[in-house]
Amino acid sequence: MKNIQVYIQENKDRFIDELMDLLRIPSISADPEYKKDVLRTSEVVKKRLEEAGADYVEICETPGYPIVYAQKMVDSSLPTILVYGHYDVQPADPLELWTSGPFDPVIKKTQLHPDGAIFARGACDDKGQMYMHVKAFELMMKTDSLPCNVKFMIEGEEEVGSNSLDAFVKGNREKLSCDVILISDTGMLANDIPSITTGLRGLSYVEVEVTGPNRDLHSGLYGGAVANPINILTQMIASLQDDKNKITIPGFYDDVEILSLEERAEMAKAPFSLEAYKKTLDLGDIHGEEGYLTMERNSIRPTLDVNGIWGGYSGEGAKTVIASKAYAKISMRLVPGQDPHKITKLFCDHFVSIAPKSVKVKVTPHHGGMPYVSPTDNIAYKAASDAMEVTFGKKPVPVRSGGSIPIVALFEQELNVKSILLGFGLDSDAIHSPNEHYGVFNYLKGIETIPYFYKNFTDLKLDS
Ligand code: BES
Ligand code: MN
Ligand code: MN
Repeated sequence: MKNIQVYIQENKDRFIDELMDLLRIPSISADPEYKKDVLRTSEVVKKRLEEAGADYVEICETPGYPIVYAQKMVDSSLPTILVYGHYDVQPADPLELWTSGPFDPVIKKTQLHPDGAIFARGACDDKGQMYMHVKAFELMMKTDSLPCNVKFMIEGEEEVGSNSLDAFVKGNREKLSCDVILISDTGMLANDIPSITTGLRGLSYVEVEVTGPNRDLHSGLYGGAVANPINILTQMIASLQDDKNKITIPGFYDDVEILSLEERAEMAKAPFSLEAYKKTLDLGDIHGEEGYLTMERNSIRPTLDVNGIWGGYSGEGAKTVIASKAYAKISMRLVPGQDPHKITKLFCDHFVSIAPKSVKVKVTPHHGGMPYVSPTDNIAYKAASDAMEVTFGKKPVPVRSGGSIPIVALFEQELNVKSILLGFGLDSDAIHSPNEHYGVFNYLKGIETIPYFYKNFTDLKLDS
């Protein structure tokens, strides 16, 4: 398919400019202040899908942010690919740590991206990766090489838990019917080590509130005689892990699917350098559950992490105070076998049970999501693997990721369709962090690889 390279070469500057335009809109779904921008982004995505050649495009309203739906039906006897992605982004803070504006995209060279990377919030997660699909679709339309039907479902609430998706998917089974779901919202090992994500972790997310005295107190007059909620909260949190870094919530590991030694040996073959890992993160040492490798700790094992903790005085200087309340946000990443509802309940019961009588505890569950594993012995995986092998000149390795995309398990449950996680980001692209970026190489490589997936999948499906 020589046309692909030629078309990309001729249009790459425009592809980059269009992505930059999309990145200028601060579509932060978590912050109501940006509501207009999030809505405007959905309109832009709709327009770009129309221009690329979709024959039907719709903004589907939901109780939250809209879902952009588009399709190009070539022939009902041909297979249908459903592309999922998200146009919303994470908040940009802390702003002072960005070297250029989060919504003022610029291309800068980095060690891992010698051809340059686009720096902006959402560059990799997920506007850049989502937009590769729009451009690959345009390419196939313009070069008359779209081999099958395609549907797009681009949502605007992924970063806040995809709350509207459950109802949308359940209410639109026919509209979303397809043979495979294609998602670029994950990463690969390195630009010269292509990989395909074969698993995602699930998520259970809770917020806890610990109340001591009914008002803030002078820490001299009362200190030592009443429970300090911050002291108590930190002790309670510390007790959630033991000295082997195992989670102490009773029943937490009960349903965890254990990988065989063969599977773990297979996983350990993926290229990984502990020294490089420590060096890039400036770590004196690694840390984690005893008995597991780093790459197992962040993929096949469940975890518990405090995402935020606050209370009391943290302003300038010193204030001698015992706060009335202390808070924390805690996430648990889950692996196949574990159910987020069950885990949330185990957490709540345990957390309340370990609280001393001197404080009151409230636990509020936030969003959750089911873990996912995908097979590597089906035609969808083969189509993706062969596509990457052509464009990277190397067979990709299957890798289980530690991140979560809750919609993937929902698609499987409701539509009975598997997803292919064909991501082109790197772990070092700083998604959710200051200075998020996406390699120009990765962006263009994605646009190049996607049409091969379409072709391979269509051929394999029609043969089967
Ligand atoms: N694209 C990420 C998930 C991801 C990134 C998976 C890299 C694998 C590799 C997604 O946008 C995300 O951030 N998901 C959230 C969960 C969601 C419920 C807020 C996450 O993983 O924290
Ligand atoms: Mn994402
Ligand atoms: Mn994200």
